Amino acid sequence: PTDASTRRGAFIVFEGCDRAGKSTQAAKLVEYLQKRHKQPSLKSLGVGVGETFTNNLKESETMTDKAKVAQLWKFPDRTTHIGKMIDGYLKNTKDLDDHVVHLLFSANRWECMTAIKNILLSGTTLVVDRYAYSGVAFSAAKDLDINWCKSSDIGLLTPDIVFFMDLEPEEAVKRGGYGKERYEKLEFQKKARKIFLDLKDSSWKVLDARQTIPELHQQIFETAEENNLII
Ligand code: TYD
Ligand code: MG
Repeated sequence: PTDASTRRGAFIVFEGCDRAGKSTQAAKLVEYLQKRHKQPSLKSLGVGVGETFTNNLKESETMTDKAKVAQLWKFPDRTTHIGKMIDGYLKNTKDLDDHVVHLLFSANRWECMTAIKNILLSGTTLVVDRYAYSGVAFSAAKDLDINWCKSSDIGLLTPDIVFFMDLEPEEAVKRGGYGKERYEKLEFQKKARKIFLDLKDSSWKVLDARQTIPELHQQIFETAEENNLII
């Protein structure tokens, strides 16, 4: 096994339409990665790996390690200045030209790039809930030119793997439906899903999101392991 200190973290992205279960699975994967990593980090503390020692560890001693092992991020990041403009747009409190909104979503990724790069280089795995594929799918669903949509994301870090949670929007509606945000409408989501599927490349793993939460979780961590993304 490769030592975490000599290897960069994996860059894992979840994509899909609204209500497909991305956030749930992204959070479960992060939790799984953090739990799995406990034993190796104990070894490096020099306390041995016996059950007794593990059980004696205080919660505070494992907490700091967790964020070093894996972190959950999401886009849009609504906390930044740009993110707040996006938030206002999505909540329909602010109207913006479609091109401007597209560029804001893209800029919201760009403003995180240095941080993302540094976190990955420090050996931490990043699990990211939505990325540039969402950027293109949702903007192109408004009939913006697809190549124009792609261009503002050229040069962003490329994920190692993309889990596409595929769910027909008709099924998504049955899951308690959409909220009140701008894009949460059946016809629009159907259009976005079609474009998403056209964007599929070799890094994609398309998952049938109708499965249960544990079934999907198992498929996800097994696929990550097969692709050597779990240290
Ligand atoms: P979403 O992840 O659904 O946020 P929340 O979990 O708070 O509901 O993102 C909000 C919407 O933004 C979603 O409908 C997809 C859209 N979106 C874009 O249009 N472009 C982008 O680049 C991204 C990241 C998201
Ligand atoms: Mg949403």
